[in-house]
Amino acid sequence: MLRVLFTSLAANRALRAVAERSSIGRRFSSRFVAGIQPDDVLRAAQLVNQSGLSVSIDDLGENVASTEEARLSAQLYHQLLDEIAIRRLDANISLKLTHMGLDIEEKLAHELVASLVAKAAKITPPSFVRVDMEGSAYTGRTLALVHALHHQPGNQGHVGAVIQSYLRRSEGDVAQLLSDGIRIRLCKGAYNEPAEIAFQQKSEVDANYVKLMKLLLKTGTYHGLATHDENIIREIKTFALQENIRPDAFEFQMLYGVRRDLQQSLVCEGWRMRVYIPFGAAWYPYLMRRLAERPANVLFIAKNLLRR
Ligand code: FDA
Repeated sequence: MLRVLFTSLAANRALRAVAERSSIGRRFSSRFVAGIQPDDVLRAAQLVNQSGLSVSIDDLGENVASTEEARLSAQLYHQLLDEIAIRRLDANISLKLTHMGLDIEEKLAHELVASLVAKAAKITPPSFVRVDMEGSAYTGRTLALVHALHHQPGNQGHVGAVIQSYLRRSEGDVAQLLSDGIRIRLCKGAYNEPAEIAFQQKSEVDANYVKLMKLLLKTGTYHGLATHDENIIREIKTFALQENIRPDAFEFQMLYGVRRDLQQSLVCEGWRMRVYIPFGAAWYPYLMRRLAERPANVLFIAKNLLRR
């Protein structure tokens, strides 16, 4: 119920406009968002790196309505890739196609992401572009674009997709991505999707996650397993040990500000961990999705605000 409420709030443009301009809103978001400026996120990335964890940087934004906005967003990602290389950060970037203009014109999104992937492949040390997965209206186009970019000479290993285990279609999508050797981030999925296309029960979503995880880990391609679910993490570790899959053959991924204890303990046990760090002024939909995943976060954040 609360999950549906917060996921619906994520799409509310009027509330978003008010919240993103208010200083209390910004303070509210700071638990999960590393500030507004590129420097904020680069500093956060450095700190996370210092404790032995890798990073993926996300410039918050989605569903942009103008070509100019999309081009500016891509430009910022170019700067981030430059800074990652200059500062020698262990970091890559995550982006959303609707932030790169997919709602305006598919060609525009393709052009902007292609130039970022080419840059990620070319810089020293080489980096990587993860194309986040949005709501189901975008699934097919997002995967087609990742396949197309991955086919470009020189791009292999520098662009990857995201698969959501709540979608019934995901097993088929995984098979196609794996047949091309494309790196996958597996997550459960963060949007409201109808029963015709998505599992509704947590037990079904989790079971599909575990099934797809096993397919991924057997391929030898370097994939990311994004979850904070301790039961699933236990299953992943058990499977990796049983199948003699080396701890450096894949990575766990978690969100900035979520289960920092678990992030650190997995690294101490010798597993790889990448933290997804979002930043930027357009934090509202991202925060609403985090509240949907765990409504108790509202109380948690409010208590922290009062303590300051
Ligand atoms: P689940 O929601 O079942 O939670 C398991 C446990 O984890 C909870 O009991 C709680 O303790 C803890 N937990 C989970 N979320 C929490 C939160 N927000 N705050 C505090 N505790 C929390 N989705 C998508 O649709 N497209 C995408 O591209 C991505 N990308 C992505 C990258 C990375 C690195 C991560 C970790 C996640 C995503 N997601 C995503 C979000 C994902 O789909 C999912 O909504 C969340 O990860 C929550 O699912 P869990 O697997 O953690 O399990």
